[in-house]
Amino acid sequence: MIALRRARLADAPGIAAAHAATWRSAYANILPESYLAGLSIARLARHYEQMIRLGQGVHVAASYGMPGAPPVLGFAIAARAREPHLGEGEVEMLYVLDDYRDQGLGGQLLRAAAKYLGQRGCGSAYAWVLRDNPSRYFYQHLGGRRVADGTTRVCGEEIAQTAYAWDPLTSLLDVTA
Ligand SMILES: CC(C)(COP(=O)(O)OP(=O)(O)OC[C@H]1O[C@@H](n2cnc3c(N)ncnc32)[C@H](O)[C@@H]1OP(=O)(O)O)[C@@H](O)C(=O)NCCC(=O)NCCS
Repeated sequence: MIALRRARLADAPGIAAAHAATWRSAYANILPESYLAGLSIARLARHYEQMIRLGQGVHVAASYGMPGAPPVLGFAIAARAREPHLGEGEVEMLYVLDDYRDQGLGGQLLRAAAKYLGQRGCGSAYAWVLRDNPSRYFYQHLGGRRVADGTTRVCGEEIAQTAYAWDPLTSLLDVTA
């Protein structure tokens, strides 16, 4: 069984493992190899433990009684916008393990993130995605409107990224219902 729910402290190591696995897969040929190789699951676990302890908007797709499946199959992080001109809330992260894609988990996690933002009074939302990442078409497919282009700095390299927005936020809830 797969449960979509808010993350608990015990999920932190599973989220960290999912983070490292999905980044190494999705960002090979996009982010510097040394950066991806250097991702530390122990350090990431401490980071996620702290986020969960602070009550931040972390959601997981958790596996139960699935032999051989990792404990966390995907996760999403949402928060009030860092760039309010793009929207009131931000989906900061959304990742699903390669072997568990195309089963609806990404859409459900995005919906959980949108609900979380709506409950905190956000009427719109956006997400940044690396421009060379084919997953950006996922956001387009779910009605995200391209609202900005920019760059993010990773290991001293400037990487192109694009922001997709949903305004009103209810359009995202409708499309993922
Ligand atoms: C993007 C991602 C989260 C999608 O997760 P997923 O579980 O495969 O998505 P779902 O199965 O819920 O798909 C929902 C819908 O989006 C569509 N979709 C999924 N990936 C897509 C893509 N890359 N391009 C276009 N449409 C896509 C599905 O066909 C489905 O459409 P439908 O509802 O009309 O049938 C996943 O591919 C992923 O983790 N990618 C790597 C990490 C990443 O780049 N994250 C985003 C940047 S923060």
